[in-house]
Amino acid sequence: MSENQDHHNQAGFIAFLGSLAFVFVFFFYIVFVNKGVTLDEKVSDPVPAGAVKFDLTSVKEPWVSTPEVVTAGQKIFKANCAVCHGEKGDLVGGIANARNLVEGQWKMGAGEIAHFKVLQNGLPGTQMASFKAQLKANERWAVVNFINSITKNKSTDKPEDVAAFAKTAE
Ligand code: HEC
Repeated sequence: MSENQDHHNQAGFIAFLGSLAFVFVFFFYIVFVNKGVTLDEKVSDPVPAGAVKFDLTSVKEPWVSTPEVVTAGQKIFKANCAVCHGEKGDLVGGIANARNLVEGQWKMGAGEIAHFKVLQNGLPGTQMASFKAQLKANERWAVVNFINSITKNKSTDKPEDVAAFAKTAE
């Protein structure tokens, strides 16, 4: 009887160690390997339930920065630019020779107009291609507003100059 019980305890102990090991490995995976879940990540939808979904195409002046346009620009950035510039534009997870958009040591100058031109024309001779075919003008303006929201080297463009340029730019 007591021998039998010892046996049971041993099996139970091994199962306990096994599950303990599993929990450690799983925890390690989620925190360090998977990265799908980070502790500071907002999991909830940025659009509150019941709110009307924001539609960039309904914005008449997408070159004017609003929180909604910046958020739309961030989404476009994640889908089109993060692969080289990093999820946050700081090159973390990007490629080393792309520009750190947070530091903002611009070749073509600071500001919405200069950045929009970079997206129109690319930087010839570099991996920075033109996005004219890939993104519509309003989408490029949204990305430009997102960049200006994250960079330390911000725009000094006058809003009226940006508006005047935007009317001629496509
Ligand atoms: C294939 C990689 C790649 C992708 C994708 C990419 N970039 Fe770039 N980008 C670069 C590189 C490389 C540079 C730096 C080029 C150089 O000057 O040597 C750069 C430079 C820039 C600059 C700096 C311009 C300046 O005046 O210095 C801006 C702004 C920029 N990219 C914005 C974007 C945006 C916005 C997107 C997405 C719509 C994007 N990039 C997508 C590689 C990329």
